[in-house]
Amino acid sequence: MELIKVKNYSEMSRIAANILSAQVILFPESVLGLSTGDTPIGMYKQLIEWNDKGDLSFSKVKTFNLDEYIGLSKEHGKSYSFFMWNAFFSKININKKNTYIPNGLAKNIQRVCKKYDEDIKKSGGIDLQVLGLGVNGHIGFNEPNAYFKRNTHKVNLSESTLRANSRFFDSKEEIPNSAITMGMGTIMQAKRILLLCTGKEKSEILYKVLFGDIDPRIPGSILQLHKQATIVADEDALSVIKSNGLL
Ligand code: F6R
Repeated sequence: MELIKVKNYSEMSRIAANILSAQVILFPESVLGLSTGDTPIGMYKQLIEWNDKGDLSFSKVKTFNLDEYIGLSKEHGKSYSFFMWNAFFSKININKKNTYIPNGLAKNIQRVCKKYDEDIKKSGGIDLQVLGLGVNGHIGFNEPNAYFKRNTHKVNLSESTLRANSRFFDSKEEIPNSAITMGMGTIMQAKRILLLCTGKEKSEILYKVLFGDIDPRIPGSILQLHKQATIVADEDALSVIKSNGLL
């Protein structure tokens, strides 16, 4: 694992955008794994700017998002599909048919999950997977568990995730309690992984993820086994690691 230490959110976003754009410039047909949430917004903004200027093109890129809530339509303002179109896809020159996000309204969720992994495989696998980190250590929606679940699957969201995500919803009742997520096998098969981490509230879990045991109760810890994982973390997120004398 390679750790890139940065000052703050805006530096993290710029470095992340640099890594992602290097991938796309070198390999215009790249398959990108993308994430939602607060963490990657700055990176998306920077990429939009470079795309506007003509320095970067997404015309041949394919994307697979990590996850989607079950029960929300694509048009629902809180769905991850809506997030991606609102924050990124509608502002760049990507081809709609090259953007994949699990359908959280499908009748047969199991079939959707199976097809998602098949589509990733058919595309040649993910070249660069962008990840954020949950306060409980989740990546995608792979919640703390007794084991690492391999494939794309349905997951019941943990109390901690529901609490963390309540900031995006008007009331607690509105938050879907289940989701579709890429599995750990799917994520770990990505050729390169880019984990972004910002803020004090992630500092304890980032310490466990990077320096603790590889433990499915801390899902992100599995990234220690990935050969091409890059972590871009800011000073706040690195504060516990630093106070433990590891920086
Ligand atoms: C989002 C996702 C989640 C988030 C994580 C951190 O697609 O898969 O794992 O990356 O919950 O969320 P933020 O960035 O909002 O702190």
